[in-house]
Amino acid sequence: MVELSAENVISTQIKLIRKYLKFKIIEDNVSFRGHSQERNHVYDLMKRSIVNGESHSALIIGPRGCGKTTLINSVLSELSKEVDLENDAIIVKLNGLIHHDDKIALKSITAQMQLENAVGDRVFGTFAENLSFLLSCLQSSGNRSAKSVVFLLQEFHMFCKTGRTQTLLYNLFDVTHNKQAPMCVLGVTNQIDVMELLEKRVKSRFSHRHIFIFPNEETEPGATPKSRLDTYTEVLVQLLCVPCAKRVEEKKKGRGRKKSTATEEIEADQSELTIPPEVLSRCKVNPSQFKELDLGFVEDWNAHVLSLASDERVTDALEKLCYYTVNEQIFRNILFQLVSQMSPSKPFIDAGELDSIIDKTVAPEHRVKLLQSLSILELSLVIAMKHGLEIFDGQPMNFEMVLHRYTKFANANSSAQTVPRPVILKAFEHLQSLEIIMPVRSTDSIYNPGETTASRVQKEYKLYTLAVPVDDITEAVKTFKALPTEINHWYYNSVC
Ligand SMILES: Nc1ncnc2c1ncn2[C@@H]1O[C@H](COP(=O)(O)OP(=O)(O)OP(=O)(O)O)[C@@H](O)[C@H]1O
Ligand SMILES: [Mg+2]
Repeated sequence: MVELSAENVISTQIKLIRKYLKFKIIEDNVSFRGHSQERNHVYDLMKRSIVNGESHSALIIGPRGCGKTTLINSVLSELSKEVDLENDAIIVKLNGLIHHDDKIALKSITAQMQLENAVGDRVFGTFAENLSFLLSCLQSSGNRSAKSVVFLLQEFHMFCKTGRTQTLLYNLFDVTHNKQAPMCVLGVTNQIDVMELLEKRVKSRFSHRHIFIFPNEETEPGATPKSRLDTYTEVLVQLLCVPCAKRVEEKKKGRGRKKSTATEEIEADQSELTIPPEVLSRCKVNPSQFKELDLGFVEDWNAHVLSLASDERVTDALEKLCYYTVNEQIFRNILFQLVSQMSPSKPFIDAGELDSIIDKTVAPEHRVKLLQSLSILELSLVIAMKHGLEIFDGQPMNFEMVLHRYTKFANANSSAQTVPRPVILKAFEHLQSLEIIMPVRSTDSIYNPGETTASRVQKEYKLYTLAVPVDDITEAVKTFKALPTEINHWYYNSVC
């Protein structure tokens, strides 16, 4: 009976820890580490626009997952505590992937400014007229003189891709350039050469303020640069450690036990890295539930995390991850998977598991993925070729031979769709461009060893061989989504 209740306690504690960590790893997009100079720069620009009514524009540039969006969120969160964001400013968020043409962007701007009623059925001649009407509405409405508008343009490069006029950018930068209205335009992108995409008229109105965020330079000025591995290890500890509300309370009362330095370190980290209240309220989580976390249990858990961080297997796995990617989002997704696998029967994290998740995430079997992405027709051709190679002892095959095997199968199965020959040829050529099949080198040409049989023979008669191992095809067939049963059957029964 006593044992059962102990089990229950472990089960609830583990579930609480798991819940807490999941929120911390995935939902917290406000807490920001490092890059203090860049962050201050963004903070300064936004604050000056909102408080002093200045006009500014800037580009935030950095690779995927380096924290550009998080930086902006953290600045907005800080500003919301200092100024009356709701009344003094309007934040308009646009995304180049979503607002792919200016009309859609304008519609969204109007909606975010809550000016749909003011615009009504009004028709505007140009984009500029429409924008200036919106801005004038802001200036005249309300009792304050003017509201500042902060434009956040995510995926900025998509606003300047070819085939799209840059009217939106031109007009926004024009307002900031002429200081017509208090406005701050921040473009966020991962393309370092984005300036080259801008039209001349847009470029001339942009402030040329570039704020670069490089993942490896996450140090305070004057400090020695940290390696990516060190940063990842630190992030691992910070993200997986759980704060101890009771311990802090005890400390306040002066009744705390003497602590090891390691525990103190964790506490110092935790005071900074608990989930911000706005994140908890966004996720509709009641923070008081985490007070039920047991002191002893949390201490054991944190000690487990620290031992994990110093485990050689973990260091090796993280080193591998650093080699493949600097995207922290990927790292967080890996930690999320690890935490999700925790259960009352397995209340810990296994170093080997971390390693295997990293392997699966960053170094997947590309060929299997490639085969899985083929169309049914293309996969059928690969299967036809595999059978042909088995029958003819690995002799290379041309298109006609593959087609013959495929047609034989298609005729035998009335459910298989009849496909016109040019379509099949196109699918065959696609397989070649994906390098799933490779032309066979001509051995008789001594003058030009790089030449393939291709150049002299009609394309239907060029000889090809499979460039992917049979094991990969088997794996792909096994895991292919919605593969017709007869194709599956055909794969395993070559003679048909
Ligand atoms: N310096 C940092 N401090 C805190 N969290 C960070 C930091 N850098 C990255 N992250 C975390 O990594 C994840 C990805 O960050 P974020 O979405 O801000 O990247 P991004 O630069 O905007 O990427 P993208 O180019 O794909 O938009 C987030 O969960 C974020 O919390
Ligand atoms: Mg982003």
